[in-house]
Amino acid sequence: KLGIAFTGSGSAVPETSLDNQALTALVETSDEWITTRTGIRQRRVSLSLGSLTELAAAAGEKAIVAAGIQATDLDLILLATSTPDDLFGTACKVQAQLGATKAVAFDLTAACSGFVFGLVTAAQYIRTGVYQNVLLIGADILSRWVDWQDRKTCVLFGDGAGAVVLQAAESDRLLGFALKSDGTLNHQLNLGYAASPQELLPGINISQGTYQPITMNGKEVYRFAVQKVPEIIDKALFEANLTVEQIDWLVLHQANQRILDAVAQRLEIPEQKVISNLANYGNTSAASIPLALDEAVQQGKIKPNDIIAASGFGAGLTWGAAIFQW
Ligand code: ACO
Repeated sequence: KLGIAFTGSGSAVPETSLDNQALTALVETSDEWITTRTGIRQRRVSLSLGSLTELAAAAGEKAIVAAGIQATDLDLILLATSTPDDLFGTACKVQAQLGATKAVAFDLTAACSGFVFGLVTAAQYIRTGVYQNVLLIGADILSRWVDWQDRKTCVLFGDGAGAVVLQAAESDRLLGFALKSDGTLNHQLNLGYAASPQELLPGINISQGTYQPITMNGKEVYRFAVQKVPEIIDKALFEANLTVEQIDWLVLHQANQRILDAVAQRLEIPEQKVISNLANYGNTSAASIPLALDEAVQQGKIKPNDIIAASGFGAGLTWGAAIFQW
């Protein structure tokens, strides 16, 4: 069994919701500006005691239940995140919380492309016969790293987690994929480490500091997404030997409704096939695709055997697409 089957999904979001109106108390903005420019109406935020581990484990647990397996069946847990509880890795904390005693667990960082990059990574382990049961989680708590005084970014993001279980199967449901990176555009979107020299010993300066809040060139990222996402979906479709008409659902990284609309328009995919839940959650980074996917599965929109085109894009810059059958 060297094929990949998608056997369960799950998601989790923090309880606390901030609507656009609430943000007007923080920065000079309006519900009208945010809604018309982005489509976002509210976002969930993790409160001070909430951890990424909890959110990721809650989504993972639901995916495991949906797949009808036990945590102890898992061979691999991949956690796609840019906001770990621990820079040494958070996937092992999730493993402990789930009681997935057999699983090897590690973090994977590719910002908003993390879920698609994680999906392709998981697929390699299954296709080579190394692992059979994989839990892939995309989870982020970007509220930790947003500058809540910067209206250009703080209105865009939200917290959440989504997960899928991938299992070895006779037939392969990952039909095609394509991944890309362009580090020359890294400066367009950052959550960077900044430090100043600290004298440790005479003549020996080390650098100690901390990560700085998210900075983004919104216009450039917008342009990049609208150009590159249709291209990479086309490439993944070619790999899958499928045409655009055969796509049942377009599940894009939920960054901005205008990006979703523009990509769908360029690919000539009708609006009814585009999954969108960003009005309720904002941009949840690595969580956004599995969160949207899971909601659509729960709502009975996505049904077994449907063909899904998923595409993530974001910091790095990174972008990728995967065509798969649910
Ligand atoms: N409320 C009110 N006014 C605002 C706000 C706000 N929240 N934010 C910016 N403005 C103002 C700006 O200051 C500017 O005013 P000025 O002309 O007086 O300087 C004006 O609105 C227009 O600002 P722009 O940045 O040009 O607005 P734009 O139409 O480009 O929309 C947006 C900004 C929504 C960020 C858009 O560029 C975008 O969606 N970009 C893509 C970003 C994205 O999706 N990133 C995530 C992908 S990667 C990842 O997920 C990590």
